This record gives sequence, C-alpha cells and structure tokens, in this order.
Amino acid sequence: METLNVALGERTYSIHVGQGLLEQSELLLPILRQPKVAIVSNTSIAPLYLQRLVSSLKKADIETSTIILPDGECYKNWETLNLIFDQLLAGHCERSTTLMALGGGVVGDITGFAAACYQRGMPFVQVPTTLLSQVDSSVGGKTAINHPHGKNMIGAFYQPKLVLSDTDVLNTLPERELRSGLVEVIKYGLIRDLPFLVWLEDHLERLLKREPAALEYAILRSCQNKADVVMADEHENGERALLNLGHTFGHAIESGMGYGQWLHGEAVAVGTMMAAELSQRLGWISASDVVRIKQLLERVGVPVTGPAMATEKYLQLMQNDKKVQDGRIRLVLFKQVGQAMLSAMATPTEIAGAIEANTRHV
Ligand code: NAD
Ligand code: GLY
Repeated sequence: METLNVALGERTYSIHVGQGLLEQSELLLPILRQPKVAIVSNTSIAPLYLQRLVSSLKKADIETSTIILPDGECYKNWETLNLIFDQLLAGHCERSTTLMALGGGVVGDITGFAAACYQRGMPFVQVPTTLLSQVDSSVGGKTAINHPHGKNMIGAFYQPKLVLSDTDVLNTLPERELRSGLVEVIKYGLIRDLPFLVWLEDHLERLLKREPAALEYAILRSCQNKADVVMADEHENGERALLNLGHTFGHAIESGMGYGQWLHGEAVAVGTMMAAELSQRLGWISASDVVRIKQLLERVGVPVTGPAMATEKYLQLMQNDKKVQDGRIRLVLFKQVGQAMLSAMATPTEIAGAIEANTRHV
C-alpha cells in the first residue's frame, strides 16, 4: 500500500492506494468519531463489493448500515439525494456517524454532498471503485448533484476524512469505463505534467491491459498531481480550474445529450480536442501538437468527435459553466502541451469554430 497526504490544515487527510484495501477496515479507526458507518453504494457495485466491506468493518467492531441507490448519472439528482437523507434519519444516524461512499464518481459526488448537508456536516470517507474516481473525483472535496440545466450545478466543497483506493476492484470495471477513466489520467499530463504524459504515451497498452503495477503508478501520480493542485487552491480561485480541461465543452455534451448517454471521460475527451483546436487557432500550439493529443486519445479508444448537436446548443449550455464570469466563458486552453491556462480570450465565433471542427456532421 502507498499513502499520499492532502495537506489542508485541520482538513488534512490520507489517500491509501493498493490491493486488498476493502479488507483493511482498521485503516479507518484513526478517523472514526464513533464506531458506526453508513455505507452508500449502488445496485451494480453492492452485489460485487458491499459484503466484503461490511464483513471487514464488522471484524473491526464497527456497526454498519447500507443505503443502496439506483445506478447511473441520470440519478445524480435531488430525489436520490433525498433517499440518502431519508435513510440516515430512519437509521438514527448522528452527526458523528461516518458516511462512506462505495462506488464511482456518481456515488462519491452525491454521498459527499449528503455528508456536507446532513446535520450541517458529518464525517465522510471515499472508497472509489472506478479508475476515474480513484484518480480524480474521490480527491479534492468537490461534491455535487446535477441540474437539468447544468452538470454539478448544486454542491459544496467538502473534503473526505480518508480515501481508500483498492486497485483490485478495477478488475470488474467494464472496458468502456476504464477507457473513460484514462481520459482524466491523461488530463494531468496534458495540463501540468509533461513527463507523465510521455510515460502514458509509452505505457498506455499496460494500462489498457490493467497491469496492476502500471495502474498503481498511474493512480498515485494522478492523485499526487491532484493533491498538489488542491493544496494550492482548494476552492478554485485560480489553478484548480485547470483540472477542468475539456470539461466546459464536455459538460455541454453530457447535459445536452441527456445524463448518462455519454460517459464523463468520453465527453471530456471530445472537449479536450475542442480546447486543443481552439488553442491552435489562437496560435498557442501547433497542428502537430493537436495531432499528438488526438493520437493518444484515439489509442485510449474514446471518441474524439462530438455528437451531432447544434453549435448554438453547445454555446447556450456552456453559459451555465461555473467558470463563466461576468457572462463571459472562460476556458482551459493549452499554452503548450503539458501546460494549460485559463483564458477568456476566445470569442464566441472562435469557440463555435473549434466546436464545429470536432463535431460529427449528419
Ligand atoms: P460512475 O460512478 O457512473 O461509474 C461508472 C459505472 O461503473 C457505473 O455503472 C457503476 O455502477 C459501475 N462501477 C463502478 N465501479 C465498478 C466496479 N469496480 N466494477 C464494475 N462496475 C463498476 O462513473 P465515474 O466515471 O466513476 O464518475 C463519473 C462522475 O464523476 C460524473 O458525475 C462526474 O461529474 C464526476 N466527477 C467528479 C469529480 C470531482 O472532482 N468530484 C471529478 C471528475 C468526475
Ligand atoms: N475534477 C475537477 C476538480 O476537482 O477540481
């Protein structure tokens, strides 16, 4: 097991990454305020891993209750959030009970938001089960639900007390989900870690084959990148926005096409191509840089061209992005490959051009 720390003063916490961590509930003991944990999972993950986790908690003399949500991005909403509150209240959970998310980014984001709100805040632990959640969503304390008008529009910054990433669980992850998660891994290389990008170009096939050592290295390096950014800018007043590479375009695809139709990483891959195209049009990166990014995403096997959605619809949905300031869209663009910047320089016409260049035309 390897451990990283996210140093945020009194909100400091550890990220443990390794094999067999679901069976190591004693790792929780230092952070529990009472020996009682409510586990939130979903109908797909619970049959695979819930019993293993519950048995291990019981062995450590920790009382458990479970809350099972429907599976899917389309359930990351107010109604599902209320299901969590209903069951926490019915189970007489207190402010010092720990809420634990066992699942991917959907379960993690909604559970974290529930933890932030229940009795004005209860301790929260992330047990991420997708590659995407192990490298990104479980770290950094962004919690949220979606709104029909925009993705992750209702939420809170609320840090977990602990992240337990058991790499064994990735063996059951559907292929499409693995590929989607790899997009968020590549993101770190593209925005701030060029040597990691080169490593990914050299070792991608090992990751696609789920080689444990390669996966563990990629997860740890991603988490270290994310932790560094979050430690410098927890509440996204600056650098943290760079973690949103491709997300403004991608979120428009996710909400515009109906939540769950496009996986988050797939939409971000297309958004990354749109950001690259725009950066080239602004003269910041070369055509060969754009090809380099495209080739890596194509090797991952994710889409690099967006759905046939009207450009006006993209622009309208992009106006709901959390980075919009004074009505102006701010985008994460490439200063160079391996170095991103936040910019409000692109005009709506230039943004529309980059969207159209990467959209499937029917
Ligand atoms: P997800 O949570 O929907 O999980 C993907 C699918 O895989 C689901 O069907 C799930 O049930 C299944 N699954 C999960 N683990 C499994 C396993 N080990 N074996 C078999 N099946 C498994 O999707 P995701 O990609 O993990 O997360 C996407 C969400 O994360 C989006 O809502 C996105 O907005 C959010 N996100 C949040 C942050 C953040 O900082 N909070 C960052 C990135 C993404
Ligand atoms: N995934 C973006 C962030 O955590 O800031």
